[in-house]
Amino acid sequence: MNNLNQMPKVELHLHLEGGAPPAFIKGLAREKSIDIAGIFNEDGSYRFADFWDFLKVYEAACTTLTGPQEFYRLTLAVLEESAASGVVYSETFLSPDFCGGGDLGAWREYLHAIEEAAAKAEADFGITLRGIVTPIRHFGPEKARVVARCAAETAGRFITGFGIGGDEKSGALKDFSWSFDMAREAGLRITAHAGEWKGPDEVRAAINDLGAERVGHGVRAIEDMALVEEIAERGIVLELCPGSNVALGIYPSFRAHPIGEMYDRGVKVTINTDDPPFFHTTMAREYEMLHQAFDWDEGVFAKIARTALDAAFCDADTKTRILKTLEQAHG
Ligand code: ADE
Ligand code: ZN
Repeated sequence: MNNLNQMPKVELHLHLEGGAPPAFIKGLAREKSIDIAGIFNEDGSYRFADFWDFLKVYEAACTTLTGPQEFYRLTLAVLEESAASGVVYSETFLSPDFCGGGDLGAWREYLHAIEEAAAKAEADFGITLRGIVTPIRHFGPEKARVVARCAAETAGRFITGFGIGGDEKSGALKDFSWSFDMAREAGLRITAHAGEWKGPDEVRAAINDLGAERVGHGVRAIEDMALVEEIAERGIVLELCPGSNVALGIYPSFRAHPIGEMYDRGVKVTINTDDPPFFHTTMAREYEMLHQAFDWDEGVFAKIARTALDAAFCDADTKTRILKTLEQAHG
């Protein structure tokens, strides 16, 4: 179905550094004489064996992103690629840990560069960016507090949310409550990665211990139908990333991915790429694969894009503007 490519899309779950094309990172490494040859396959793609290896490769790739200028270039490259897939609004995870190591002054400079690139991308490619500040779970709760301070100090029109990514098997979500409370008090909306590598109890912890209104992945809620019902009833939004889950071996195929059943059961599902070049995907490919797997038509995709926009953390004016773009296309 060719029209799927053109459909305007709303993405809520994309890690900015995880959107870095391998050739872009390789180019930076060459410029800076940083030896990270081991993270690439011979064909130039990223090389990793499993999720935990992926996290190491991801962090090695980030060592080339040495300053605000690198993030300016990264942001433009990522948004150009998203826009080519029809994405008109992208909410992207930003990590102060990789942008100045948690230093507030440095974080402000990185953020300024990212926002400048976002403004250029909006003018050039018609895509709007907003940021969700994200501590890295396996860096621990202490570092997360520093990140939460960065988030609270820069909360506003551009920084709209607070989340947590990284190794879900490291520590307990409730150990991060202080950081989430601080972010919430600063007016930030809350999401959290949970239910990707751990099961339904972790999804419950994201909702109940951290007050998440959206869950990053949350896909393994499917292992507890009472939880699926609760999520549907409470209108909790799942930022599902089917291609990421298939690439990392959580499900063997798109057809086997729970997104189909969750959608049928009335869960507010959204479609996202997570770290697209790492997982050989794009938003256009996610749509195409879901169309093939579940025979979803444009009507279903239009409904899901609307769900995503409703769940976006941006201000009302931005939502109204994006809604017009969706309505012009979807009718
Ligand atoms: N950081 C980047 N991608 C991630 C994922 N899929 N899960 C958790 N943390 C991540
Ligand atoms: Zn993610």
